[in-house]
Amino acid sequence: MAHIVATRPLIEGGLSGLRDTHTVTVCDPPNGSARSVDELIALTEGADVLLSILADPVEAELFEARPRLNMVAQYAAGVDNIDLEAAEAHDVAVTHTPGVLTDATADLAWALLLAVARHVPAADEYVREGQFERWETTLMLGVGLAEKTMGIVGLGRIGRAVARRALGFGMDVVYHNRTPANPTLERQASAQYLPLDNLLRTSDVVSLHCPHNADSHHLIDADALAAMKPSALLVNTARGPVVDEAALAEALADGEIAGAGLDVFEEEPDVHPRVLEQDRVVLSPHLGSATARARMRMARMCETSIAAFLDGNDSVPHRLV
Ligand code: DGY
Repeated sequence: MAHIVATRPLIEGGLSGLRDTHTVTVCDPPNGSARSVDELIALTEGADVLLSILADPVEAELFEARPRLNMVAQYAAGVDNIDLEAAEAHDVAVTHTPGVLTDATADLAWALLLAVARHVPAADEYVREGQFERWETTLMLGVGLAEKTMGIVGLGRIGRAVARRALGFGMDVVYHNRTPANPTLERQASAQYLPLDNLLRTSDVVSLHCPHNADSHHLIDADALAAMKPSALLVNTARGPVVDEAALAEALADGEIAGAGLDVFEEEPDVHPRVLEQDRVVLSPHLGSATARARMRMARMCETSIAAFLDGNDSVPHRLV
């Protein structure tokens, strides 16, 4: 019987498949703030498996302090909170949950985009506050997306799902990847490869779907924002640090771009104060995968990976290390 520690409660029933055969401890943080590595060390006393979320700093110190820990099952597709090299060096297996949150995240990218393009939060507030007295010819004029260009940075699963939706809205799709996608994937997404500077100059919407790593840190910096059209909208449902948030605040304040839809932030859960001051910004609290179906499928995926690992299977699904 192994001891599995989950750093947050999951969706109800999410770990039911493991409870009969293993000891499962679910931690419930008092204030939901990101945990420090010291807190993780304290929580994982006697643990064989850690079920982590994206706010948990799973670093070398943890593996050094807890030699019994031999698996980390990340309840997310992104793993930028985990030091994968340190895990490998300490012979700790790492799994994640790709594929099951693709549509949920693509939907949210579109929800943010439509909300920014058509002033949905401001319109809602206007009606609730009783300001809707008559139909007006020029009230809250927004941006139509048909015949515009969607620029996707990162044509992975989620990028392609956003591209498919863009085609439905009558948009042209261009994309940038570190290396161009293979022709089959390009055809499926009806997306044309462009170098990043070219994509930034020509897109009406730039939607970010790349992982956060040393190469993509501040990929969208002051220069990148200056290269975008003044009418362009930026959507980030990937990872906060892909965008230099202070530079984004400046670009919005100076009218270098027209607006942004942000689900992720550089210093989550904090948001840059100058971003909060901007009117043409719609914000959500990292909700990309937040549908009951996606969260349950993520839980099932973690269960399957953990069970396979604890059973000693040669092949553990969704294993990265
Ligand atoms: C992920 O899985 O990486 C998402 O950001 C979680 O919502």
